[in-house]
Amino acid sequence: MGEETEFRFLRACRGETVDITPVWFMRQAGRYMKAYRDLKEKHTFLEMCKTPELAAEVTLQPLDALGVDAAIIFADILLPLEPMGTGLEFTRGDGPVVPRPIKNKKDVDKLRPVNAEEQLGFVGDAIRIVRSEISGKMPLIGFAAAPFTLCSYMVEGGKSRDFNATKMMMYEFPDVWATLMDKVCTVLVDYLAMQVKAGAQVLQVFDSWVGCLGPADYTQYILPYSKRVLDGLKGLGVPVIHFSTGTSTLLDRVRDAGGDVISFDWRIHLDDAWETIGFDKPIQGNLDPSILMAPIPVIRERVLDVLRRAGGRPGHIFNLGHGIFQHTPVDHVKAVVDMVHQYRHE
Ligand code: CP3
Repeated sequence: MGEETEFRFLRACRGETVDITPVWFMRQAGRYMKAYRDLKEKHTFLEMCKTPELAAEVTLQPLDALGVDAAIIFADILLPLEPMGTGLEFTRGDGPVVPRPIKNKKDVDKLRPVNAEEQLGFVGDAIRIVRSEISGKMPLIGFAAAPFTLCSYMVEGGKSRDFNATKMMMYEFPDVWATLMDKVCTVLVDYLAMQVKAGAQVLQVFDSWVGCLGPADYTQYILPYSKRVLDGLKGLGVPVIHFSTGTSTLLDRVRDAGGDVISFDWRIHLDDAWETIGFDKPIQGNLDPSILMAPIPVIRERVLDVLRRAGGRPGHIFNLGHGIFQHTPVDHVKAVVDMVHQYRHE
């Protein structure tokens, strides 16, 4: 057995027993850290994503500072939109903007196939640099969006509260929706395969906004495509984490779509979610990221609650239910890592 199969994070992804619960955080690199804000003075977000040395530097920033059990490559789920042809902009403070959104069949037909090695190769290069820096210390996670979450940005043209345009495409033009999701699935599988080839040891697929749908719509319009992506990753030989938020009532379906680890948010007790998913399946979660801004005693109480609910069963990765907020104190994040690492199940 190579040493990397012994990382507790990889063991937990496979549902094996661990000495200590592994912990990492979504958005562990970002604006809540001074080192990141300093670099951001000199470069735009997209510049940082597309310059492998900078993306690698940002990936490494939180690792020693926090003592986490995994690194996640610094990139963004929306990067494939540029080569697909819709454009992508991050206007300060406004969130992502897609300047040429997908409105109809003609727009879907115009979408370009993506050569991940050539057009998104900077992510692979960043992965190679990070691997050479952390090899033997901790595993590296690669990631992409799930098809729904990526398509929602493409159709809405940016962030959305109600996802009306996306839902209307499903209901009014189901064939156009099917073709769009189909094209996106192909891009996502290739992009993720490229990341594994470059050295990613785990993949996370982000379905951040799919909780806006009811169970029937999830089953009809989303599940077959998420399944296609997750099935398409099976041959790569790395564990895949299937992440979503707002899906407390959809978790059985999210599990059916696939993934080796199911990651969910704080809107459900961890043990209730795990029972629905099945205790045989590894899980990740599920602290509310707002708790990281609470006083330390409150944080401790909530962290211990998550750990107690996990009950020492094999296959729990401690994480938030969604990404770290900008105004989170770094020492609170570090305190959570220490609490998780000091905890012993009775
Ligand atoms: O987790 C990590 O540390 C890796 C980095 C990472 C980023 N984005 C960096 C980032 C990851 C995993 C993502 C994924 C991502 N991007 C998701 C899925 C996860 C989630 O939060 O649901 C989504 C929906 C996006 C799209 C996106 N990119 C949004 C909504 C934003 C915020 C825009 C804003 O102005 O707040 C981004 C930008 C972004 N991605 C930042 C970072 C660090 C902030 C950029 C900045 O510094 O201004």
